[in-house]
Amino acid sequence: MDAVTLSVIKADVGSYVGHSQVHPDLLAAAKKLLARQKLIEDYHVTNCGDDLELILTHREGVDSPEIHNIAWDVFMHCTEVAKSLKLYGAGQDMLADSFAGNVRGMGPGVAEMEIVPRKSEPVIVFMADKTSPSAFSLPLYRIFADPFCSAGLILDPKLHDGFRFEVLDIEDGRRILLDTPEELYDVLALIGIVSRYLVKRVYRKDGEIAAAASTEKLSKIAGEYVGKDDPVAIVRCQSGFPAVGEVLEPFAFPHLVPGFMRGSHNGPLMPVAQPDAHPRRFDGPPRIIALGFQLNGSRLVGPVDLFDDPSFEGARRKANEIADYMRSHGPFQPHLLGVEDLEYTTLPKVLDRLHARFETLAASEKKGFSKKAKMPAATH
Ligand code: F6R
Ligand code: MG
Ligand code: MG
Repeated sequence: MDAVTLSVIKADVGSYVGHSQVHPDLLAAAKKLLARQKLIEDYHVTNCGDDLELILTHREGVDSPEIHNIAWDVFMHCTEVAKSLKLYGAGQDMLADSFAGNVRGMGPGVAEMEIVPRKSEPVIVFMADKTSPSAFSLPLYRIFADPFCSAGLILDPKLHDGFRFEVLDIEDGRRILLDTPEELYDVLALIGIVSRYLVKRVYRKDGEIAAAASTEKLSKIAGEYVGKDDPVAIVRCQSGFPAVGEVLEPFAFPHLVPGFMRGSHNGPLMPVAQPDAHPRRFDGPPRIIALGFQLNGSRLVGPVDLFDDPSFEGARRKANEIADYMRSHGPFQPHLLGVEDLEYTTLPKVLDRLHARFETLAASEKKGFSKKAKMPAATH
């Protein structure tokens, strides 16, 4: 069987009202353009909130300049449609004037995998809005390494060997491969630090790819805030991979993710059906959708809107309760993100203005504030 590449490429090229959702004219324009592309064997166009997502199959492999160029042109054209409608933030994720061979680092987010489809190939495409790529670390860990989530890790001999995690260190631009269950604590030690370490891919130990997530960080690319880097991910399911229900299971817990209003607040990740993917309250709460497909060669059979299910009502209710609770903190942490992760802040200006009014504390007073003085002594 021939290899097929599944590419999910997304960008926010303008939305309405404000940063809430993609206008139907942009979806229609994207579909029309993709239909004309010979290299694209099948496609599905959708949106999660203000992000326009192109789900593409082709034979060109990952990081193909031709495929990325097609996606770039679609986003550029949709930017023009957004401008003509005076939509909000038209072209906000298009950080370059012209295409330079790969959309990575140019604004759009990308998750891709090249696979030889099995006899039957179920895949789930996750798409999130008002959050950041680290939102996938907890669920990917639970899907591929936590037997309390994926029963198959214990019950299915094909899953019992565990999986290999590719973890990125986005501060130092490096990666590491770690095996689970053997190095489970090391994986958690890293990916629990969501502002620095991210799960990029997961592999079976025979090298077969199991999951891929987008890890572009717009704020780092542009050097200043230009829009949240809302992530996408692809996960393969069944016979040798976790079952569809195991892959969806972590989302029954609406974990806290960075994003929400102004990309500067922690809030719960709410699993919703695609028509409900329009963050509104406090520009949130952050949303995630899951579209399931069966790959028939390169044909996308589907989608099935997997969170359109009453069994996720509890998660949505809990997410709303958590949103109430977090919102009550107003401008205080931990609703507000740590200083280094704020997308918007007036703090440097406030500090500049107040600089001269700060008084140095006397040495004896300082001591009382020192962390060292408060640290309890070791008892062993
Ligand atoms: C968060 C997001 C929105 C905007 C907010 C302010 O990722 O996109 O919450 O940050 O609506 O938007 P501007 O600065 O465009 O008025
Ligand atoms: Mg936007
Ligand atoms: Mg968005």
